[in-house]
Amino acid sequence: MTMTEVPMVDRTTLHRLSRAIFIGIVIVVAVACYYVPVLLVVIGVVLVLLLCGRLIYRGRDRFIPNLYARDIRMYEDEYRAFIDHTLADLRQCKIPDHPLLREASELALPSGQNSDELLLDLGVWIGWSTRLTADASRRTVYGFDTFEGLVEDWQVDDQTVVKSGTFSLSEPLAQRLMEGTGVHLVDGVPAPLGRAVEFVKGSTYDTLAPFLAARPAAPIRLFHMDLDTYESCLHALETCKEHFVEGSILVFDEYLVTNGEMRAFYEFQRRYGLEWRYRAWGLEIWEMNVEMVTSRWKRLMYYLVAIAIYWTVGGGSYTWAVWDKRFWRFWLGAPIGDIAFMLGAAGQRKSVSLELTGLGELARSHRSG
Ligand SMILES: C[S@@+](CC[C@H](N)C(=O)[O-])C[C@H]1O[C@@H](n2cnc3c(N)ncnc32)[C@H](O)[C@@H]1O
Repeated sequence: MTMTEVPMVDRTTLHRLSRAIFIGIVIVVAVACYYVPVLLVVIGVVLVLLLCGRLIYRGRDRFIPNLYARDIRMYEDEYRAFIDHTLADLRQCKIPDHPLLREASELALPSGQNSDELLLDLGVWIGWSTRLTADASRRTVYGFDTFEGLVEDWQVDDQTVVKSGTFSLSEPLAQRLMEGTGVHLVDGVPAPLGRAVEFVKGSTYDTLAPFLAARPAAPIRLFHMDLDTYESCLHALETCKEHFVEGSILVFDEYLVTNGEMRAFYEFQRRYGLEWRYRAWGLEIWEMNVEMVTSRWKRLMYYLVAIAIYWTVGGGSYTWAVWDKRFWRFWLGAPIGDIAFMLGAAGQRKSVSLELTGLGELARSHRSG
């Protein structure tokens, strides 16, 4: 079965609501145009100007702040070509929901044959990505986190740096969402809440190698990367390399941050001559934290506040701030389909899944090991 034929696992309410608000705004504008026809002329002129701008600037790189992340002209030719191919391939496997949950739900049910396979969730925060992966796969998932936040600064794009320590469970947002979703700590890690999950506390620089050394022959079936930074991602890929097999599924939550996880995978696959194919491009799993808030009213508040923040001061504000260079690069450079996606959804489509189809140099080291 191909990814496009698979029934949808979920689509967060956040996106449905955001889309509904967007459609509402379009209807209000249409009604306003009916009563004040001159508005129609103004909108028409703006659209024609934008179209002309897009034709003039056809050679620009395709850019969506926080999505395609930065001006790729700053990279060397080979990496730029990789990004170009990636974006072209990903457009063929766009899905409306979360690649992580899709992939987990498509794994074979637990059996004697796959009992040694590993499902790893790297970067778990309050633990929902791990629990939901366990729910979807019906298998045990191992979640790794410091629970004290990022271990390095994360340069998201030219404008944004997320400081090390961000995403610590002591932060107010984590505390609020833990309370809202019924998560408490047990021995310093989030409770499993009835799911088949095991959390490993500490930096992956210290925890991942001993964890794998204790399971020397275990193949990695599912590898979910949500450590965010280039350094942690590359280190995790290198540490896991002897455990990857043909058919391993790798899901990167922030793949389109081109100087982060994508760059790490690019270097990793090049170093060992790996072969792979992209499988899905969809929503970040993080947003499912809000879906897990038990109170309906609190959940609604999260949705509305999240959408308002996103379009006013958050990642979406560049769409109306005409003095911001990103405004022009977005409206003139981004593919129409992606502009429509951004306007119809508060969240981000950065998560990508791929399957290793050839191990290159790693096959040789597997054999000699
Ligand atoms: C974006 S959050 C993960 C969100 C989670 N997957 C979810 O969907 O809710 C990133 C997490 O990675 C953790 N992290 C980043 N680098 C790490 C490292 N090298 N070792 C362990 N944890 C790390 C941070 O503590 C943080 O909780």
